[in-house]
Amino acid sequence: MNKKSILITGGAGFIGSHVVRRFVTNYPDYLIVNADALTYAGNLENLKDVTNEANYAFEHVDICDENAITAIFEKYNIDGVIHLAAESHVDRSISDPMSFVKTNLLGTTNLLHIAKKQWAGNFEGKKFYHISTDEVFGSLEMDKGFFTEETAYDPRSPYSASKAGSDHMVRAFYHTYHLPCVISNCSNNYGPNHFPEKLIPLMINNILHNKPLPVYGKGENVRDWLHVKDHARAIDLIFHEGVPGETYNIGGHNEWKNIDLVFLLCDLVDEKLSKPLGESRKLITYVTDRAGHDLRYAIDASKIERTLGWTPDYTFEQGLSETVDWYLSNESWLKNVTSGAYLHYYSAQYGK
Ligand code: NAD
Ligand code: DAU
Repeated sequence: MNKKSILITGGAGFIGSHVVRRFVTNYPDYLIVNADALTYAGNLENLKDVTNEANYAFEHVDICDENAITAIFEKYNIDGVIHLAAESHVDRSISDPMSFVKTNLLGTTNLLHIAKKQWAGNFEGKKFYHISTDEVFGSLEMDKGFFTEETAYDPRSPYSASKAGSDHMVRAFYHTYHLPCVISNCSNNYGPNHFPEKLIPLMINNILHNKPLPVYGKGENVRDWLHVKDHARAIDLIFHEGVPGETYNIGGHNEWKNIDLVFLLCDLVDEKLSKPLGESRKLITYVTDRAGHDLRYAIDASKIERTLGWTPDYTFEQGLSETVDWYLSNESWLKNVTSGAYLHYYSAQYGK
């Protein structure tokens, strides 16, 4: 008999796969059910080291599918949800906002609705944990202020608006039905298994293939970077100790202008591949800015530090160096993703 059955949505994605691995490994008496639709961003190869563990199950499912999600709750007797499934890339949200509304807003509401129905007012030992983003707070001026849990929502891209809508729906279920919900809003993650459409893995991949490095606008925008394993550790802590109805901001106190980060990546790869210093910087190409490009994100993470004792373990120097090493020694992962071969991993593995 498992102590807990936890539904992790989006577990085949970047952050989700680190969360699944952490829970499967650290909690052998929990059953971890990974529910993922395997969109372009889902890659079961990310989880090949835990696929055969006795406390791991995979369900190929869209979070918008009411019958299928209900069946999963019943089959596994789910008593906790860690919800990461989402459309996550801002540039895609600009060209295709409807997919973001469907998964992020309708899909989240579907999960809340089913959890409420299945738990039928008996919320003892239950928790619904929604993973959100700092982008819901909008954009900060350069060198001025931080996002706190009290900052008013001001989303400005279809992605952040859809995530803000899902956060509001989670709070509505907490206030209206007393569903025990908790939310965290995190800054930009980096680390192994990051899909190479996002800044850091895109730059590493392009440097390795001698392709242009597209820097939006003047490269002046600022992001606050956190190692994905530090985020997964915070998620573990909040799932177990976070107070229902509360929100926690998670961030790295690690702000970088995009162009400075790209310089750093170029120099790191040059050093590791023994290329002349400055070689990769020649690939930098300034391109048209992202529409509505938020200038700066920066998190005040003092609440999670004060109340749950969380601070990042990784320094950026160590985390970025290890990340570059990971991409250099996992070229086949990168090749499978960029060629599209990864999309066949599920059928090869599960015969479907
Ligand atoms: P990702 O794009 O790498 O992974 C998303 C996963 O969700 C994929 O496995 C995909 O197949 C799955 N998915 C998408 N639509 C689905 C649907 N309709 N039904 C079931 N599964 C579906 O995303 P990520 O970067 O790992 O982000 C995970 C979560 O964390 C998201 O909710 C995102 O908003 C949030 N977040 C991300 C960051 C970041 O820097 N990446 C920072 C803060 C918060
Ligand atoms: O802040 C948290 C968010 O971080 C998450 O909620 C999102 O899911 C995640 O994708 C990320 O959003 P960003 O838009 O900040 O990440 P991205 O990697 O797309 O871009 C980081 C910065 O780099 C941003 O200022 C845009 C810029 N950029 C990005 C790409 C892909 C470039 O200059 N060139 C590029 O090619």
